[in-house]
Amino acid sequence: MSTLTLSPAWRALAAHRAETAGTRIGDLFAQDPQRAARCSIEFGELFLDYSRHPVTPETMRRLLALADQARVADWIARMFAGEPINNTENRPALHVALRSDRSSFPETGNVMPQVREVRARMRATVEQARSGQLKGATGKPAQCFVNLGIGGSDLGPRMICRALRSRADPKLQVRFVANLDPSDLEAALEGLDAQTTFFIVTSKTFTTAETLDNARRARAWLEAALPAGADAGAHFFAVTASPDRAVDFGIAAQRVFPLWDWVGGRYSVWSAVGLPVALAIGMDGFEALLEGARDMDAHFHTAPLDRNLPVIFALLSIWQVNFCDAQTQAVIPYAEDLRELPAYLQQLEMESNGKRVDRDGREVDYATAPVVWGASGTSSQHSFHQLLHQGTHRIPVDFLLVAGDGERTELAANALAQATALMNGADTDEPHRALPGNRPSSIILLERLSPQALGQLLALYEHKVFVQGVIWNINSFDQWGVELGKNLARALLPALRGEEPPAQTDAATRALIERIRRLHQT
Ligand code: F6P
Repeated sequence: MSTLTLSPAWRALAAHRAETAGTRIGDLFAQDPQRAARCSIEFGELFLDYSRHPVTPETMRRLLALADQARVADWIARMFAGEPINNTENRPALHVALRSDRSSFPETGNVMPQVREVRARMRATVEQARSGQLKGATGKPAQCFVNLGIGGSDLGPRMICRALRSRADPKLQVRFVANLDPSDLEAALEGLDAQTTFFIVTSKTFTTAETLDNARRARAWLEAALPAGADAGAHFFAVTASPDRAVDFGIAAQRVFPLWDWVGGRYSVWSAVGLPVALAIGMDGFEALLEGARDMDAHFHTAPLDRNLPVIFALLSIWQVNFCDAQTQAVIPYAEDLRELPAYLQQLEMESNGKRVDRDGREVDYATAPVVWGASGTSSQHSFHQLLHQGTHRIPVDFLLVAGDGERTELAANALAQATALMNGADTDEPHRALPGNRPSSIILLERLSPQALGQLLALYEHKVFVQGVIWNINSFDQWGVELGKNLARALLPALRGEEPPAQTDAATRALIERIRRLHQT
């Protein structure tokens, strides 16, 4: 048994769960008329209602004792101090500096001069592009930017551009290409004029196969479509922590925006990785996004744990995953413009906390990150909600709702209806119609879908993930698990093109390689 599962706070929670497992959430409301107010917490433009979780004040007290035992407050301080909390890579995790407005941050290893310099360069580029002064090789102004990146170099800017699309400049299109499959790029290039199209090659490492392949294809497309002798290189920008590689690729050094090893890919949208967002909504809009995240950072850094929104949000998840056996977590935004949020959170949560050993390399004997999945409501109601209501799995749901100006009240009605149906169920003698209820959900209400509110929301999830990682005693900032697959793909490619497979190739893989090669020949 690990020290965590043997610890007093963990055992107290396990005992509490055993005593309260039969509790009906609906009964908790009957017992406490103040429950709706008591089981909620707000900060900035966000309001979290967690009254539909099977928690009582005693549950929260014991969860907070677990946070204390894990020294969550110390870890928060260590992150903001720039300590190398990413222990397997011996690096700090300083995404909070990317949205800081302090002149010096953190106290040691001040990174702010570089951060400010990049922000100023972003502003200059964005203003040039939005005013029509950024010209391509033939002198025509930029009209479309295509971001070539994957994972953290794609999901954040893609999701935010979608979320804030009502604020986007209609004269400047922004498109995204991630997949290795050439049809992704082909689809994105449809209808575009090479003379007015620019590419941003976004890759922290500048070694990612998908992104480099797409960048080469993009260059070939430009070379084929531009007049003879025109400089395709004039249509490229890059965002990377390996500027030399970008320059070697043929991108002018002054068009390369730096990233740093103290920013994880999935935490990087606040850096120049957010350039597509700034191009779409303007640099002031991008700064407003940073401001929202900064507000949440200040709250997370200073609020006592029992009034700390990311901490409470994390503890609810710990309760569900580790004590109520929830193996997955659904995220359902009732806002079509937030439809990319589940995919973004999948990387944030599952790449950060999908770990099986603790910080010291010992195998854990407790669950870590749940499988995160979801889609936008109300469409989701017509696909997977049946399973939420009557399936055999326990699936906590995060419902995201935007209050807005009252234009979309049908969405709110539907989200609240779903949360109510999950909690109360339906009692009938007909087993096929009965809904057991007592199924947990959180409701996160955003005042509006603004850059500030979105910044607060994303920082909330980032800090939630960090607190969970601290409690699980894992490093949320590395991702070693993805390397093996990348190396195997590199090794198998020649075999699919006709060479002998590597000696260690297993029989199942060999058989499929042969079949695919035969199909290539027919
Ligand atoms: O494969 C995982 C990963 O390393 C992610 O962590 C990262 O966001 C993505 O690939 C893209 O990496 P890069 O920005 O270096 O191209």
